[in-house]
Amino acid sequence: MQAPRTVTTAVIPAAGLGTRFLPATKAQPKEMLPVVDKPAIQYVVEEAVRAGIDDILIITGRGKRSLEDHFDRNFELEYFLGEKGKHAQRDQLVNIAELADIHYVRQGEPLGLGHAISVARKHVGDNPFAVLLGDEWMSPDTPLLENMIATYERYNRSVVALKEVTPEEISRYGCAKPEPVSDRLVQILDLVEKPDPAVAPSNLAVMGRYVLTPEIFDALAQIEPGSGGELQLTDAIALLLQSQAVYGYTFSEGRYDTGQVLDYLKVIVELASEREDLGPEFRAFLSDFVRTRDL
Ligand code: UTP
Repeated sequence: MQAPRTVTTAVIPAAGLGTRFLPATKAQPKEMLPVVDKPAIQYVVEEAVRAGIDDILIITGRGKRSLEDHFDRNFELEYFLGEKGKHAQRDQLVNIAELADIHYVRQGEPLGLGHAISVARKHVGDNPFAVLLGDEWMSPDTPLLENMIATYERYNRSVVALKEVTPEEISRYGCAKPEPVSDRLVQILDLVEKPDPAVAPSNLAVMGRYVLTPEIFDALAQIEPGSGGELQLTDAIALLLQSQAVYGYTFSEGRYDTGQVLDYLKVIVELASEREDLGPEFRAFLSDFVRTRDL
């Protein structure tokens, strides 16, 4: 077996239509919705950089120009802030453009997550790579991606993030049939996209972080449209695991789907209440709110 290569490339799919967040996402990408005062996708890029990734490919589509603008320099604004003596704010803007080498490729039509990943083939080449969904927030307190990359380096095989969910929730996710390997690690024997709870092979759901071997591209080229008529990444991984082992790294805390309204509200409350500048006043407001409304 070939020695594993280090994972330095991440693909961040951000070309979905965001229909669960309409009308907010009618004319702006859901990945640009602010989580406190930063767009959701910036947290995702920062997470990738923390895990040692320096090459990022964002999959964009129609109406997603603001994503590129956000990670680019804005000389006019930088000049204005400099003139006003707001140097910390200016530096913060410059730093966003220097986070990593960020590239973009457009997915002509939103044909599904699997299709979005397949358009990354030319950029990724014959290398392992990480996938981070652009609308999923992961806590920086749990180094999930770092641990998944370490697992890839140990086994030279794909690793998928898995989280236990309730039987009612499992039909919204890809679901794994697991075989325990060690503490947090399982080998995935099968994967089913959005199963009926009655036939789900477990309550372990696939979450939006993956480390994939390049063989996934051959699998993506072979699959047919699946659940929802979309090309599903889950189906390609299910095909991949027939020819090489695929592992699941389980975690339990610190994940929100910022493309879903309720989770979006939760992550904002969590982050705002932890912030040094906003936290004290915000927490006081929250407890007052709960008390006076008798919640
Ligand atoms: P989602 O299923 O959450 O995205 O895909 P969506 O289709 O935009 O969501 P709703 O259901 O309409 O609200 C997970 C990730 O994959 C990307 C999305 O942008 C999101 O980051 N994606 C999805 C693509 O890049 N292309 C697609 O064709 C579908």
